[in-house]
Amino acid sequence: MPAATVLPGQIVRPKLADDSPLYPDYMPHYDPLEKVEDIGEFEHYDAGHRADPTFPNLLKGDAQVLDLSPHVGTEIRGVQLSQLNEAGLDELALLAAKRGALVFRDQEFGNIGFEAQKKIVRHFGPLHIHGWAPHPKAGSDEHMVIYDHKDDLRVRKSWAGRSPVQWHTDQSPESQPPGTTFICMLESPSAAGGDTLVSSSVQAYKSLSPRFRKRLEGLTAIHANGDGVAQELKNGEKAVLRRGVLQAEHPIVIVHPVTKEKALYVNPVYTKKIVGYDQEESDCILGFLFDHIAKRADFQCRIRYEAGTCLVWDQRVTNHSQTLDYPVGERRHAFRLTSLANKPIPALVEEDDGECAKDEMRTQLNLC
Ligand SMILES: [Fe+2]
Repeated sequence: MPAATVLPGQIVRPKLADDSPLYPDYMPHYDPLEKVEDIGEFEHYDAGHRADPTFPNLLKGDAQVLDLSPHVGTEIRGVQLSQLNEAGLDELALLAAKRGALVFRDQEFGNIGFEAQKKIVRHFGPLHIHGWAPHPKAGSDEHMVIYDHKDDLRVRKSWAGRSPVQWHTDQSPESQPPGTTFICMLESPSAAGGDTLVSSSVQAYKSLSPRFRKRLEGLTAIHANGDGVAQELKNGEKAVLRRGVLQAEHPIVIVHPVTKEKALYVNPVYTKKIVGYDQEESDCILGFLFDHIAKRADFQCRIRYEAGTCLVWDQRVTNHSQTLDYPVGERRHAFRLTSLANKPIPALVEEDDGECAKDEMRTQLNLC
């Protein structure tokens, strides 16, 4: 493959001269014999409940705040995640719930070691262990390694022949799915690429007409990860399957336990069928909702990563997707730590909840 032209003055990401990884301890390790027990039911008290809504511990001193789009995504400068006290972490949970996704640059988080990293993310809930994705070579079952390089094209090959852009919330078929989640970038493709797309599920819900929103409230849908398991089984004897197929029934409209905002809780990767609807009816409604999430760039943002960038996001109020748009063979290396949260809370069905009257745009246009 010919090397891409580097323009005078072009900024490229750091790479070692021999193309070895910047973080060898975090190289992916696959153990086909590894098994893990389900975590089981647990009581969740969201860290955001304890947070001071003026964010005095998170946004202090030189902190700068830059919204990436009106409805989702905020970049925060001048804050080190690894230095936050417990009150600062509570405020982090609340701000992630409000803004969906938070981006922090030049973080020490990737250099503080597995145990210190896990201690921080455990603040938000018990840590998830992925059913098939790799762990770091140096050990830690809760770390999920994200790795793509010419020496390990396992992930890249799994996307061959289909779009890598797949909107989802991680592991929604868990009975208590993920909440506050961290991705820490260790090494990015040299020029650009590998961004994460994020969509606000709160705005996805709000932007539907009030009558359609009421139609969705009270419905539940089946979430299952059988497709992911089937894809992993294609690796034959090297396939890693720590747990069986997961399936759960969740409300289609949920309420965030702290902000009380309603959010659309479906995604095209895991949501399979609306309970009580015939298959064609379910396919039609879910197909519309999946399109709605994918096409509405007016409530999406895009996260660009440098080495040391951490993304902290709340999976209950967002969907996200990878991009996989950089040249095949380039190294992209990150890890994810995922806290599990509450059982999804159904939105109440209200005959007249006044939502339409609160929507200035709709009242101006006489749409209520
Ligand atoms: Fe994901």
